[in-house]
Amino acid sequence: MSSELNLVLVGPPGAGKGTQASRLVKDFDLPFIATGDILRQNVADDTELGVQAKQYMDKGELLPDELIVNLIMDRLQQDDAKRGFILDGFPRTVPQAEALDSAMTAADRKLTAVVVIEVPDEDLIDRLSGRRVNPTTGRTYHIKFDPPKHEGVDDIDGTKLIQRDDDKPETIANRLKVYHSQTAPVIGYYDRPEAQNKGLVRRIDGTRDPDEVYRHIRALVATVRLEDTL
Ligand code: AP5
Repeated sequence: MSSELNLVLVGPPGAGKGTQASRLVKDFDLPFIATGDILRQNVADDTELGVQAKQYMDKGELLPDELIVNLIMDRLQQDDAKRGFILDGFPRTVPQAEALDSAMTAADRKLTAVVVIEVPDEDLIDRLSGRRVNPTTGRTYHIKFDPPKHEGVDDIDGTKLIQRDDDKPETIANRLKVYHSQTAPVIGYYDRPEAQNKGLVRRIDGTRDPDEVYRHIRALVATVRLEDTL
């Protein structure tokens, strides 16, 4: 049980969770489960969930817990996630964190770390308003901080880059508000004195260059794994 790497990435919108997860996936060969990506795929496919999800996402609101919890619990039970996972965008409320805890305990598993990527709101507004994504692969760029080689098109497959619907200024403001009121308490939940798994929360300065942020996350993962074997 201790050799599994079960990581949760937490951070405000635009903190760089997706950017860092893509690096982790390459190095650790684990399934990357991003609720936002799953929901956007459902919106694109016009599924029943997608139609419901779009109403919340376009306003920067969270979907009701009951819609998300079952989706993620099912995903975690698939074979590829049984030897570890990287979760991005879940849990995003305390009830979601409680549901994850119960499922992990029932499966005799535990989280390895909750990696909190910290970035102040003023930087996040710049990051989100300048983000451009490949609608097919989800590959992410930034017009200033990480521009594609040719403006507006993906470096790898040449697809025209788009701006996410929820990266419009009025929606960004609400997403930040929702993060502070509903998701930040999840960090306190994992850090509470009576929590079973002490020292789970690991904070990372997300204002640095993406490669530097990644070096810190890698070092942290190595430390946590070492601690786990002691
Ligand atoms: P989701 O897709 O999870 O959005 P989010 O949490 O708002 O996160 P983002 O994807 O916007 O940001 P990120 O941290 O991944 O940043 P990125 O790496 O792209 O969720 C969307 C919606 O789905 C929610 O609003 C909600 O409606 C719904 N939802 C999802 N999960 C849910 C749940 N569990 N319960 C209920 N509802 C749920 O980076 C951002 C930009 O910054 C990029 O352009 C990047 O190039 C740049 N960048 C990254 N790192 C750096 C750096 N170090 N320096 C400079 N620029 C950087």
